[in-house]
Amino acid sequence: AVERTLSILKPDATGRNLTGAINTLIEKAGLRIVAQKRVVWTKAQAQKFYAEHKGRPFFDELCSFMTSGPIVVQVLQGKDAIATYRKLMGATNPDEAKRGTIRKRFAESKGRNSVHGSDSVASATREIALNFKSAEIVG
Ligand code: CMP
Repeated sequence: AVERTLSILKPDATGRNLTGAINTLIEKAGLRIVAQKRVVWTKAQAQKFYAEHKGRPFFDELCSFMTSGPIVVQVLQGKDAIATYRKLMGATNPDEAKRGTIRKRFAESKGRNSVHGSDSVASATREIALNFKSAEIVG
């Protein structure tokens, strides 16, 4: 089915000027960028977005990192967009990511891993709503 997923290009990616390189991989994979903006999150926005990880040992580090610089939040649309993008991203840990994936190419560590993508339809709906008004998404 045609789906939408929430993508984030993280501060390690924007800091190394990789927005265009990653967007090229996204578009080559057949996904369409139907919304996109460059922002800096507040700590409260990061904590809300990652609420499911509250209590994990890496939660504070994750929220600090995600507010440490500009991020690019995007809505990607296409056939099976959620799974397609997760496959393109590769494993969370770049040491385990397959050749050709975004994280194999660009990620620096489990935390500084360049990109985020929603993991389910429910997450995508929630994550898109947290970042975009419906009028900002032009399919
Ligand atoms: P993301 O898809 O953005 O969702 C949760 C994030 O937590 C995940 O990507 C990782 O970047 C981050 N994360 C997971 N495990 C660790 C870890 N051990 N140390 C730091 N960050 C982590």
